Amino acid sequence: MATKDLSGIPRTRVPDASLSLLRDGYVFISSTCDRLQTDVFRTRLMLKRAFCVRGAGAAELFYGSGLFSRKDAMPPTVVHLLQDYGSVQMLDGHAHAERKRLFLALLEADGIRDFTATLAEVWEARAARIAAGERIELYTELNRMLTEAALRWLGLPATQNQVRLRSQELSAMVDHAGTTGPHNAWARMIRRRSERWAAQVIALIRSGDLTPRPGRPADLIARHTEEGRPLSTEVAAVELLNVVRPIVANARFVVFAALALWQHPQWRQEFARGDLSRLEPFVQEVRRFYPFFPLIGGRSVRPFTWRGYAFPEQSWVLLDLYGTNHDPRSWSEPGSFRPERFVDREPTAYDLVPQGGGPYETGHRCPGERLTIATVETMVRLLSLADYTVPAQDLTYTMRAMPALPRSGLIVSGGSR
Ligand code: HEM
Repeated sequence: MATKDLSGIPRTRVPDASLSLLRDGYVFISSTCDRLQTDVFRTRLMLKRAFCVRGAGAAELFYGSGLFSRKDAMPPTVVHLLQDYGSVQMLDGHAHAERKRLFLALLEADGIRDFTATLAEVWEARAARIAAGERIELYTELNRMLTEAALRWLGLPATQNQVRLRSQELSAMVDHAGTTGPHNAWARMIRRRSERWAAQVIALIRSGDLTPRPGRPADLIARHTEEGRPLSTEVAAVELLNVVRPIVANARFVVFAALALWQHPQWRQEFARGDLSRLEPFVQEVRRFYPFFPLIGGRSVRPFTWRGYAFPEQSWVLLDLYGTNHDPRSWSEPGSFRPERFVDREPTAYDLVPQGGGPYETGHRCPGERLTIATVETMVRLLSLADYTVPAQDLTYTMRAMPALPRSGLIVSGGSR
């Protein structure tokens, strides 16, 4: 079949759409696609030529073809605060597969069970405080709880001071990943403190001065070898942060889950009765419905053809994760929160992509997906059993600030359910 010239791809009205992306946030790609009646359009972002794509077919191209590297695919302001240079995400091919095995080994079912058991212990003290009448902001408290549970699970000291410092740093990285200017610079400065901490942890484990139980994740990272050589201290530190930071980032999904329990109380009642048969569908719907990662960028390592168009090597492609999770071709009434949709239907590898899609081993799909689901399930179960109410507050969130969060951080206080 003859391929079409790239100039035939619909394009944005303005030559550079950076301001539209800032203005429209999560819905930028999907609303532009709707207007242009297409799944792919071309534009410029920060003056660079970009192709924006959405939908399960686009996710399959992006995650199922092995075509896209993450090198030079996202702005440094984002990369530094999230995965960072030297991390698994920046690797391709064999080197990527070898590093990815480390993550998948850390995040197997036994590890996940240990983590959620630790988290449940950490929650007990908070539940008692709430029941005694204290008002807490769930987002801040979850950041601390998840930091404490992560440090304990990794096999690292979790003193109050450690938890306070690390949770501040780790949540700042996620909160400011979508910003530029002074906020981003501040978060990057704070991140350097975490990097020093993580490098020190790796050095102490290697020298035998810190001894997490063998098999604990921090021990596995410190001792991981590639082609017979251990990772450099800097790279091992980056990967340690790549476990602990996203665990803490789960605070956002849990806050959204708590919001859903409050706004759809029949689910809280069902789980409080001990009927957990629809817990996983509920959590899948939280991950589908609420905004978190808006999009992800990749650069093609070779020329390719898609939807009849011939794209050159090094094409910069941005996949709309949020828009794919809300695509009416995959999800009926995508703007309604309806966990029932997952009761008789497993998501495919490409239609539900809040944490990427495709194969885990050979692609860049998030290795922490099962841990995320288990974390949110655990917290939904525990919150449903807890005695708290949600006083009047601003529970709205904007689709412009990425990543999104209810404005109040979700304040809960003890008392009648
Ligand atoms: C808070 C919930 C989470 C969200 C929204 C999330 C989102 C994502 C997304 C969208 C990707 C794909 C990036 C790409 O295609 O380049 C990804 C990759 C990754 N995630 Fe997560 N993630 C979460 C939790 C976790 C957890 C709990 C861990 C580890 C404990 C983790 C570790 C990673 C790593 C190491 C990668 C890079 C994988 C690779 O390049 O092969 N994430 N995550």
